[in-house]
Amino acid sequence: MTIHLTGNLGSGKTTLTRGMLRGLGYTHSVKSPTYNLVEIYKISGLYFYHFDFYRFNDYLEWEEAGFREYFNSDSICVVEWPEKAGDLLPPPDLRCVLNILDTGRQIEIQACTETGKQCLTHWKTNNR
Ligand SMILES: Nc1ncnc2c1ncn2[C@@H]1O[C@H](COP(=O)(O)OP(=O)(O)OP(=O)(O)O)[C@@H](O)[C@H]1O
Ligand SMILES: [Mg+2]
Repeated sequence: MTIHLTGNLGSGKTTLTRGMLRGLGYTHSVKSPTYNLVEIYKISGLYFYHFDFYRFNDYLEWEEAGFREYFNSDSICVVEWPEKAGDLLPPPDLRCVLNILDTGRQIEIQACTETGKQCLTHWKTNNR
């Protein structure tokens, strides 16, 4: 499962990821991967990788960082600033666009694959 989070600085990408981890039962601190590029969590047999590619200056830095192997069927990959890795990044299941409003935030979520559609349907059904 791969989720791309797009939005300006401070639009809430890390906060949303923290919420996902809380929702999965992770209770420890969740820090921004801005400096380490990735924070790794292990949740009941699944790896949850939280990336932040803000600091990449060109697409090839992503390839050189060796992150491609992290994107596999045993992992959840949540990516802040996916546009910094461009077309090299595997396509997402969900694409989220966050916007800052006067009060709070707005999010648009697009399902890009069948897995993404199932996830959104499940989420809608459980959040009525
Ligand atoms: N839904 C929300 N409503 C109100 N405030 C929020 C919301 N989401 C995040 N914030 C606040 O906005 C600030 C920035 O949030 P956050 O660090 O998650 O942004 P970000 O998109 O990850 O930024 P960056 O691009 O720098 O990584 C924090 O102070 C956070 O508490
Ligand atoms: Mg962030």
